[in-house]
Amino acid sequence: MNALEVHDLWVRVGDKLILRGVDLALEPGQVHALMGPNGSGKSTLALALAGHPEYQVVKGRAFLEGRDLLALPPYERARAGLFVAFQYPPEVEGVKLREFLRLACGERGKGFCEFQRIFPQALARLKMEDFRDRELNVGFSGGEKKRAELLQLYMLRPKVALLDEPDSGVDVDAMRLIAEVIKEMAAAGTAVLIITHYPRLLEYVPPEKVFVLLDGRIVDHDGPELAWRIGEAGFEVVRK
Ligand SMILES: Nc1ncnc2c1ncn2[C@@H]1O[C@H](COP(=O)(O)OP(=O)(O)O)[C@@H](O)[C@H]1O
Ligand SMILES: [Mg+2]
Repeated sequence: MNALEVHDLWVRVGDKLILRGVDLALEPGQVHALMGPNGSGKSTLALALAGHPEYQVVKGRAFLEGRDLLALPPYERARAGLFVAFQYPPEVEGVKLREFLRLACGERGKGFCEFQRIFPQALARLKMEDFRDRELNVGFSGGEKKRAELLQLYMLRPKVALLDEPDSGVDVDAMRLIAEVIKEMAAAGTAVLIITHYPRLLEYVPPEKVFVLLDGRIVDHDGPELAWRIGEAGFEVVRK
């Protein structure tokens, strides 16, 4: 069974129609990529699936392991195993990274003892020991925010992870680290979708499948070579 299936998804923001019939399927344990130029609707897809109230589904369906995702409120989607790493992770004053993750893990059925065991491991894996008692994303650099998103992924072990530009603002060392963690998560069974407009991260984590989003529709899909072609010639290669 596919981990995530999206059928003919139409989404609008305000009175603007952004997604116009997206079809997508993600397989468990595989890395997929969603590429598309700025403004093509990549983040809209992730946020609509997460249940962001401004992103209204006009038409279409989505299933997480066969379960009707769009019928659930956002927190139930997360509980069911959907994880979204934000393109722009919000700064949450007054909430420490540790407390945030302790509560999130609790919601995913991980008790306090398990949290106490895996939290130090995750901090070490993401090289974030110094961030343990920092307020969530407050004053983090762009790259640190991205690592903090991956830390959440590492702790929560979701069924489906939509990673919205995990490579933006990230230096080369962090890029390698993020790539390794993504591979580990996929190897452990998570269906991963890397959303990006550059093939760079994909060189470190070759995806099984690449989807291209243009003007609110998936216009092409193929193996990793599609990402390399886009890297060389731009999105013109898929414009018809
Ligand atoms: N909250 C919003 N309000 C108004 N327009 C939005 C909003 N979010 C996205 N859009 C518009 O939707 C289009 C797609 O945006 P987005 O999904 O962020 O694209 P991408 O992530 O591919 O760069 C853009 O034209 C963008 O300006
Ligand atoms: Mg975006």
